[in-house]
Amino acid sequence: MKGNGDTAGLAGVIAGKTAICAVGENASSLRYRGYDALELAEHGSFEETAYLLLTGALPSRAELARFDARLGAGRSLPSELRRMLEAMPAESHPMDVLRTGCSLLGQLEPEADRSREVDCAIRLVAALPSMLLYWHRYVADGARIETSTDDESIAEQLLHLLHDEAPSDAHRKMLDASLTLYAEHELNASTFTARVIASTMSDLHSAVTGAIGALRGPLHGGANEAAMALIERFSSPEEAAEEVRRMLGRKERIMGFGHRVYRTSDPRNAPSKRMAKRLAAESGDTRLFDVAEAIERVMWEEKRLFANADFYSACIYRYLGIPTKLFTPIFVCARATGWCAHVFEQRADNKLIRPSAEYVGPAPRPYLPLEARG
Ligand code: COA
Repeated sequence: MKGNGDTAGLAGVIAGKTAICAVGENASSLRYRGYDALELAEHGSFEETAYLLLTGALPSRAELARFDARLGAGRSLPSELRRMLEAMPAESHPMDVLRTGCSLLGQLEPEADRSREVDCAIRLVAALPSMLLYWHRYVADGARIETSTDDESIAEQLLHLLHDEAPSDAHRKMLDASLTLYAEHELNASTFTARVIASTMSDLHSAVTGAIGALRGPLHGGANEAAMALIERFSSPEEAAEEVRRMLGRKERIMGFGHRVYRTSDPRNAPSKRMAKRLAAESGDTRLFDVAEAIERVMWEEKRLFANADFYSACIYRYLGIPTKLFTPIFVCARATGWCAHVFEQRADNKLIRPSAEYVGPAPRPYLPLEARG
């Protein structure tokens, strides 16, 4: 539905209340349950944020240790799921792999008891990175990897399983911060999808499976992959600036820019850009970062459009040696925490989400039997 008038795409419509996340559009701020997401990313860990989103409060040291242990225990995959991952075509997009994997986990381990919804979410959040890397390593080098690692965090596990070696502290910390910045973002399209599904009293796996499908599109989470595809086309900042001006002239959309809610900047951009710049300097090859910065400059000069969270995240992931096809799936691994928190919130005060539409079709007309239509 294209929508019309003031509510096209439900822009600006308050579609519900939430205590999980506040997005400040003009001051460009992002808070998870009252805490500044940027502070959480800089000083905390993704696991602390996950705990905060799922339970409502930051954990004590002992609570975090127990939470980490439960996430660690959730990394193993059932044999039926591993067999299914091995059977998926090598050319699949890993977003399809995660969508199907999440759905199958819901069949193998159904959410039978709503009073244990947090346990179900922890298992899902722990299993998604394992699914992704199990499939990736199987198709990339035929390895049947052990996903039950003793890595201390999801960021560490992702990089460890991807590169088959422990990441540096700096790299682990940067992916961790990026996961924190991606963890939650109010009523974005995928979270809204999850809440619509939850509002029918469906199960957690169905809500997350639907959300993965919504995140995949390039106007949403898929923008990080599309942004990298663009950045990589150019060998110099000058070439990038020239071509992006031409693309704008042809009214093409540049993925990784603009936002439905923020008006002047995306608060997640500054820390992401800082990390990307640091990684570029450390790698000794700043071309990719320089090209990205040139695109950012042109977008501001020509359209007053700013880089959103996806633009420099793409650069971070490339410098961390993550293949482009895994960018949006890694976003899934982070956002699954926010989706689950919203499902719980929806359930706690549920009302079926079922808006109305303004009818613009044909006026009432009589049915003509097939014989009469010729
Ligand atoms: N590149 C080029 N032009 C863009 C643009 C972009 N990334 N984002 C918005 N615009 C332009 C549109 O073409 C439109 O121009 P017009 O009025 O001349 O037709 C105008 O800005 C408004 O666009 P619209 O799509 O109506 O705004 P929105 O608030 O609904 O858009 C997004 C929000 C995110 C869908 C949009 O900015 C976009 O498509 N961005 C790229 C995808 C992306 O990065 N998504 C991740 C978001 S976190």
